[in-house]
Amino acid sequence: MEGGAILVRLNRYLSMCGITSRRKAEELLLQGKVKVNGLVVKELGWRVDPEKDLVEVDGREVRPVAYRYVAFYKPCCYLSTLGTPPDGKKTIKELLKDIPQRLYPAGRLDYNAEGLLLLTNDGELAHRVMHPRHKLPKTYLVWVRGKVQGETLRLMTRGATLEDGFTKPDRVKLVKHQKDKSLLEVVFHEGRKHIVKRFISHFGHRVLKLKRVAIGPVELGDLRPGQWRDLSGQELKDLRRALGLSP
Ligand code: URA
Repeated sequence: MEGGAILVRLNRYLSMCGITSRRKAEELLLQGKVKVNGLVVKELGWRVDPEKDLVEVDGREVRPVAYRYVAFYKPCCYLSTLGTPPDGKKTIKELLKDIPQRLYPAGRLDYNAEGLLLLTNDGELAHRVMHPRHKLPKTYLVWVRGKVQGETLRLMTRGATLEDGFTKPDRVKLVKHQKDKSLLEVVFHEGRKHIVKRFISHFGHRVLKLKRVAIGPVELGDLRPGQWRDLSGQELKDLRRALGLSP
């Protein structure tokens, strides 16, 4: 170690390279996939000098990247994946061709759901957006079949035990009734699969349309389906604060 060099823990360095979150980076280390200056390093506390050390993951050199944070309106009937789906369904990848960086969705929306997805190459922030421990509220507007009655709403606010355990929304509000449908605003800070649909169907209603309108302080705003925009400095500051990260 030389005087003056700023050393960074290897798991943090890997997350700075947009590879993965710090926690997942530790798994890569333990799997022996990470080399520093040609030698496999499995020690979790290992520190590197970003100016001088050569770090490789699976034999490929990695370097810190500039982070980018994008708010994207996923349209209905697109998969929230960047991979190639086996069944030929459309994916969000084709709507993000103008973005040169490799950004990943921080969380998912179902194929037939729409609304706000955050895309970033900041693995640590993405991890915190998705992990329930950080309690980042996600707000959904949900059209459900039938008139949701006051008593049902009251029960909804108390939570429900689903097949994979108890869940409780942070908030449920009736926005309006329209013929035999109801529009609800539902806020959850967890991202278990189909959580909103399963929760609503527990109370005997079926989701007709699901749209995520906010993730923490970031709102969908006037984005149209398929459009994206970079987060403003203020949005990013607010998001980082909400996730317990320094602004
Ligand atoms: N809950 C769901 O049921 N689906 C989503 O896409 C998101 C939350």
